[in-house]
Amino acid sequence: MPDVFDVLSQDHGEVKQMLAKLEEERPGPDAAKGKLADRKEKATKLITEESKHEAVEEMFFWPAVRDKLQDGDELAGHATSQENEAKEVLARLDTLEAGSPEFEELLTEFTAAAREHIEFEETQVWPKMREALSKHEATEIGKQLRDGKKTAPDKPGPEKPVPAQRRESGGQRSASTSGKSASGKSTARKSTASGTAAGKTKAELYEEARELGVQGRSTMTKEELAREVASHR
Ligand SMILES: [Fe+2]
Ligand SMILES: [Fe+2]
Repeated sequence: MPDVFDVLSQDHGEVKQMLAKLEEERPGPDAAKGKLADRKEKATKLITEESKHEAVEEMFFWPAVRDKLQDGDELAGHATSQENEAKEVLARLDTLEAGSPEFEELLTEFTAAAREHIEFEETQVWPKMREALSKHEATEIGKQLRDGKKTAPDKPGPEKPVPAQRRESGGQRSASTSGKSASGKSTARKSTASGTAAGKTKAELYEEARELGVQGRSTMTKEELAREVASHR
């Protein structure tokens, strides 16, 4: 059974290949229409794969990073801000004609940023997560990623992940996420857990579960999170 790192590695490998191909095939000023149409198609495929990949990372991987690592908030915050910038570039790229100067400029910009982002994940985050996750957890998150990709948005959507700052509104960062209980949470934090689960994303429910100190939240389904959050109120 592939684990979280197998699934993410495969995605990264595919994205890197697509980027290399697009870089290699950069068209000259007299490029034929057919060549440009093919380039546009390849860029659209890149946008699709990249959007799905980042969407499921934000749903299932970064919550686990925040949950498991001492510096998880910082690492996830850095990575998701890179992802949000990339989304903006891809959304713009999606509207442009292949071969136009702006398209090529944006693609070059995205290529450099995507390589940097992938390297950050693979060298700064994965080694720590390999140590922090049990085999069962790594397999479970791998499954969530694979299942999530079936319905993940294939465009860089306007929706943003739950901002890390939300949990820092009290001006204090938590040093560790392990062993927390619901006691000792500020009333400001508690207020984010009010209301019902209806209409909330999994990421939002996860954040509430985290604030409430729900154990085992990183491997829960959306329904399980909603149930746990409701029962802790
Ligand atoms: Fe990412
Ligand atoms: Fe990634």
